[in-house]
Amino acid sequence: MPATTQAERKRVAIERLLPPPVVLAQTFQDDPAPELFPEERRHIADAVPSRRREFGTVRGCAREALAGLGVGPVALVPGVQGAPCWPAGVVGSMTHCTGFRAAAVAPAAELAAIGLDAEPNLPLRDREVLEAVTVAQERAWIGVLCAVRPEVCWDRLVFSAKESVYKAWYPLTGRRLDFDEAAITVDAAAGTFTARLLVPGPVLAGEELRRFHGRWLCESGLLVTAATLTHPPSRHA
Ligand SMILES: CC(C)(COP(=O)(O)OP(=O)(O)OC[C@H]1O[C@@H](n2cnc3c(N)ncnc32)[C@H](O)[C@@H]1OP(=O)(O)O)[C@@H](O)C(=O)NCCC(=O)NCCS
Repeated sequence: MPATTQAERKRVAIERLLPPPVVLAQTFQDDPAPELFPEERRHIADAVPSRRREFGTVRGCAREALAGLGVGPVALVPGVQGAPCWPAGVVGSMTHCTGFRAAAVAPAAELAAIGLDAEPNLPLRDREVLEAVTVAQERAWIGVLCAVRPEVCWDRLVFSAKESVYKAWYPLTGRRLDFDEAAITVDAAAGTFTARLLVPGPVLAGEELRRFHGRWLCESGLLVTAATLTHPPSRHA
């Protein structure tokens, strides 16, 4: 039996963020020659090798997660504005950052949207970046939490939470959402966050969506955030 490398054994407890019915797959190791569908190969043909590896490896994760839903291998070519085109009846999200790739999928009958994002647990580059991706009320609580729990890069956590919200938002709306159009608050003890929309949200089953809820974790040098949207209660009535 081949020896298992440390990278193969390493994993992050992302199931804490996205419990069933979400199916997850992750890896800390790129597949040097990932199997791609011809249309995926065409899409990524001109990219640099590192992008081709991350593109292929995360699609391997996505196909592994889809298999957990009983969905056979399908091409996952980026669609409008880069949003992945999931098979009918599936919602999902993919993320990659240095050394880590992950995908999450669920039956669309169970969840309306998923957004997953991973970032290194490192501070944002400088004040300019912080001001570009946060609103004043976020900067206020980031300062407080940095003083009491400096092991978490709270500025980067807000950035990641916004990216996961955007990945859940975009497939629902087909619209861009800028960094000053949502305000994040976190519950540091519970590992949760809320994104309050500062612009009109999509109307789902006759109700305007005002908030996304999510969970976060800080582990193995990574910050991972996940936003999910459940169907309005009327959908289950
Ligand atoms: C799209 C975006 C969120 C991707 O995040 P990122 O940290 O750069 O990259 P990640 O590796 O975590 O995620 C990349 C994956 O996101 C997914 N993605 C890209 N665009 C997407 C979109 N419009 N909707 C949903 N998912 C998208 C893709 O699966 C992509 O992987 P792929 O290129 O291999 O197919 C980011 O580049 C972006 O455009 N951000 C600006 C919008 C924003 O975040 N607003 C905040 C509002 S509060």
